[in-house]
Amino acid sequence: MERFSYPGIVALAPMAGVSDRSFRTVCRMWGAQFSFSEMISAESVLLDVDVVDKMLPFEEENTAVQLYGSEPKKLALAARKVQHRASWIDLNAACPVKKVIKKNAGAALLKDLERLKDIVLAMKDECEKPITVKIRIGFEKNELEKIMDVLVSAGADGVEVHGRTAVQMYSGKAQWDLNLEKWNVPTAISGDLYSVEDIRRALEVSKAQAAIVARGALRKPWIFYEFFHAKAPSIEQIRDMFLFHARLLKEDEGEKSFYKLRQFVAGYTHGFSGAREFRERFMKLEGFDAIESAILEFFNRFLISVGENAVRDTTNV
Ligand SMILES: Cc1cc2nc3c(=O)[nH]c(=O)nc-3n(C[C@H](O)[C@H](O)[C@H](O)COP(=O)(O)O)c2cc1C
Repeated sequence: MERFSYPGIVALAPMAGVSDRSFRTVCRMWGAQFSFSEMISAESVLLDVDVVDKMLPFEEENTAVQLYGSEPKKLALAARKVQHRASWIDLNAACPVKKVIKKNAGAALLKDLERLKDIVLAMKDECEKPITVKIRIGFEKNELEKIMDVLVSAGADGVEVHGRTAVQMYSGKAQWDLNLEKWNVPTAISGDLYSVEDIRRALEVSKAQAAIVARGALRKPWIFYEFFHAKAPSIEQIRDMFLFHARLLKEDEGEKSFYKLRQFVAGYTHGFSGAREFRERFMKLEGFDAIESAILEFFNRFLISVGENAVRDTTNV
């Protein structure tokens, strides 16, 4: 197999409940170069033939399927079963949520490096696609050296590192100064990437090959556009992408999709005057038609008042 390398330098990180097909698609259109499915349990893959079809309904280039679990054999079989849908398979050894830790999965694997090693070896053995692993720098304290050594010796094809420990959950500042080029494996850095400057600094300081953006993309989905174009998109582009996102979600989840869309409203309207009132109104809207007209009305107000080519500087928003 040719040596794996992440297909780009800036991507959308996996986010359960957020990075579904619709959000992955809009982030890719804004410029994210690769993406991950939401995490999927290996057990559910083995029990349910449709679970991956639900999470990844269409073929997507450069998109990894992320699996979580604790049993080497089950993870290996699940990886084999879904590999035809995935550009590569990513193992979650980073999730700090209690429900996942209790099952010895996610970040719990960082406390049992023998098991982590066995899982990677089993997945590599069973699966023809590359196997990458998403980790934190440790469970309670920074043990990155030990973890990376184990992953490299087991033959992991790439490692995404969230620069926090599992007990930190999502608080505190993420660490970027990890000297990730030290290991002979492609790496990606994650944590606190909220602006183009953050992405640049994190890449430089961590010496990772790629940066994967999570909450920063939720806060500002066009962060990828800003990275590659060095300017904010136009109001029309933001409006049209919000509408497109809403349509994709409706396609996948039906009329009820507007509940899920609510988590993206703050991101799409951040920095626009009247955003707070709009968000409050949006939370009470029901039905796709009402949502579509509200989005059009909100953004068109700015086009009428400031002209067709109005571009809002969002780089510091
Ligand atoms: C809502 C949410 C869901 C997440 N789900 C996953 C997941 O399914 N798999 C995973 O590896 N990481 C998951 N993460 C972690 C992110 O991929 C990322 O590593 C973390 O949020 C740090 O980046 P940030 O500080 O830029 O948000 C999730 C994060 C958030 C906020």
